[in-house]
Amino acid sequence: MDLTRRVIVALDFDTAEDAEAVVERLGDTGQSYKIGLQLLTAAGPSLVTSLAAAGKDVFLDLKLFEIPTSVAAAVRAAGVRGATMVSVHASAGSRILRAAVRAAAEFPRLRVVALTVVTSLIDADLAEVGVTATTGEQTARLALLARDAGCHGVVAAPHDAAALRRLLGPDVLVVTPGVTLPVHPDAATDHARPAHPADAFRAGASHVVIGRALTRAPDPAAVLAAIAEELRISGAATRPAGHRTDSATR
Ligand code: C5P
Repeated sequence: MDLTRRVIVALDFDTAEDAEAVVERLGDTGQSYKIGLQLLTAAGPSLVTSLAAAGKDVFLDLKLFEIPTSVAAAVRAAGVRGATMVSVHASAGSRILRAAVRAAAEFPRLRVVALTVVTSLIDADLAEVGVTATTGEQTARLALLARDAGCHGVVAAPHDAAALRRLLGPDVLVVTPGVTLPVHPDAATDHARPAHPADAFRAGASHVVIGRALTRAPDPAAVLAAIAEELRISGAATRPAGHRTDSATR
């Protein structure tokens, strides 16, 4: 697999024009994008459709946590738009996760990834909402729940990638946001446990999500190409990308 497909560029912008400008600047170097709640709310889903039509992978980061019927409907809508990845909160529990997985099965390319513990959270944040486990323990618990519900992958902090890879085996996607580049001080401020992309891959991530450090760089294509080249040289991303070949029917 093209290494740049494993580096998912987060298009966290307020307008479609700003997002499209980054896509344009990345050109062929940019093969995978994440569209989250900010851009979706501000600009609607048309960019999902146009990116998918251009052959890009699109992670629609909906972070779903709703009744099963609504989750299934949203996953189906993501599939119709051509998204290749959609996120659901693992803490929603297995009935909701299974509803998402069943809905995604209609779309052969669509992967359901379950969000374990949001990367900005620390143990004290979990305690505040009544979870006495550490972030690591809670991440492992939710990751197993997600895998057993048939999810294709999990979203977790790079810090937890190695443990998750050991726990979940080689076939499950491990998508890690919360990565940054040493050159970009702003990007690190709301990451409780930031890591460099190569570290995340070396630890077992199949994909990394990187936003501001890349999209706000003077030359985003050069930054993305440099990450891909570093991955190629280090061999950190030569492990299987975690793509299951069967559809989401478990
Ligand atoms: O920080 P950066 O701009 O690279 O963030 C890219 C994406 O990573 C965001 O869209 C967000 O969903 C995710 N992120 C995260 N945890 C953080 C910071 C960002 O999951 N602490």
